[in-house]
Amino acid sequence: MFEHLRPQPEDPILALMDRYRADPRTDKIDLGVGVYRNSQGVTPVMQAVKTAERQLVDGQDSKGYTGLAGDPAFIDAMAELVLGDVVAADRVAGAGTVGGTGAVRQGLELIRLARPGVTVHIPDPSWPNHRAILQAMGMAVKTYRYFDAEANGLDMTGLLEDLRAVPAGDVVLLHGCCHNPTGADPSDAQWQEIVATLKAAQVTALIDLAYLGFGDGIAEDAFSTRLMVQELGEVIVAVSCSKNFGLYRERAGVVLVTAADADARAVVQGNLATLNRLAYSFPADHGARVVEMILNSSALRAEWATELSEMRGRINSLRGELAAALQAETGSDQYAFLAVQRGMFSRLTATPDQIRTLRDDHGIYIIGDGRMNMAGLSKEDIPRLARAIAEVCA
Ligand code: LMR
Repeated sequence: MFEHLRPQPEDPILALMDRYRADPRTDKIDLGVGVYRNSQGVTPVMQAVKTAERQLVDGQDSKGYTGLAGDPAFIDAMAELVLGDVVAADRVAGAGTVGGTGAVRQGLELIRLARPGVTVHIPDPSWPNHRAILQAMGMAVKTYRYFDAEANGLDMTGLLEDLRAVPAGDVVLLHGCCHNPTGADPSDAQWQEIVATLKAAQVTALIDLAYLGFGDGIAEDAFSTRLMVQELGEVIVAVSCSKNFGLYRERAGVVLVTAADADARAVVQGNLATLNRLAYSFPADHGARVVEMILNSSALRAEWATELSEMRGRINSLRGELAAALQAETGSDQYAFLAVQRGMFSRLTATPDQIRTLRDDHGIYIIGDGRMNMAGLSKEDIPRLARAIAEVCA
C-alpha cells in the first residue's frame, strides 16, 4: 500500500531547522523556527515553570485520566487569562489540545462539523501551516490582503476591502497579536475598524493566539481577541502556551469557544470533547497542569509575568538594536520597521537568491519568505547580521 504514498512537501520552517542543525559552522546564526533565546543563546525553562513542576512532582498522587477536554481548571485559568471578564463564564467552552497547532486543528474540526463546506479566509501572508492544515482537511481556503511589502506594514485598505467582500457565514482567521510572519499588527483603532467590518460582514472569527504577552503585554495583546468576543459573540480562539510559558515541547494549548448562550455552550463543549476523543482521546496533561498551577498561584503568576516581561523587553530591545545597526550600515531608515513591529517575527524584503546567499556565504538562516525570528538573535551577532544584510540585500 505504501507505494501509493507521495513524498510530502517540506515544511519551510522545520526544513530550515534541520538544515541549520546539520551546518557545522560554529558562527552560524539561527533566525528560523520561532523559539525564544536568552542572552546565553538558550531557550530557558522559566523559573515559575520549574517551581510549579517541582510542586507537581511532589504533590501529584495519580496519573489517572483527566477528562476528554483536559483539566477543567486549566481551561478556566486560560479563559480568564485570554478573555478577562468580557464574557460570562457560562458562555465559554474549551478543550485542552496538543499545543497551539492542535488548537488550530481542533478549532477547524469544530468549524467543519458546524458548517461543512465553509471557506476559511487567511491573511496573506500567514503561518504556512494554516494553509497546509486547511488543505489537508479538504477545507476551502482563500486569502485576504494583509501586508504591504513595499511599506513593510499593514495594508489596511486592502485588508478592509477584502474583508468586506467575504460572504456571510464564512470564517476569517486572524492573528490575535504578533502576526506571524510579518510582525505587523493593527493598532487598537485599526482593530476596531476590522472588527466592525467582520461584524457587518456577518462572518465568524477564528483567532490564532500563539504569542500572547510577546508584543506589548497580556492585556494589550489580548485587546483584539476580547474586542471580537464582545462584538461578534461567537468566536473561536486557538491559544498556545509554547512561547509565553516556554513550554514548547510539552504541547500545552487550548481551544476556547464563546457561544451565544449557556445552552449553545453545552453543545459546543460536547463537540469539543468528542473531537478530542476522535483525535487523541485525552490531551497531554503535564504542561497544562503547570500552566494552571502558575496562573492560580499569585506568587507564581507574578514571577511568570515578570519573566514574560523580561523576554518581551529583550525581543523589543533586540529589534531596536538591529534597526539601529542597519541604519548605520545602510545610511537609510528602510529598516526602521523592525523596531516598530511586535512579537518574534519580522520579514526582510529579500529575493530567494539573497536569502540563499545569506545562508550559504554568511551562515545566516532566515525562512525563505524573508521571515526572521528576532527572538533568536543574540546581541553579539547584531553587527555581523546587519553588515551581511546590508551587503547582500542592498
Ligand atoms: C514558528 O512559526 O516558527 C513556530 O510556530 C513553530 C512552528 O511550529 O512552525
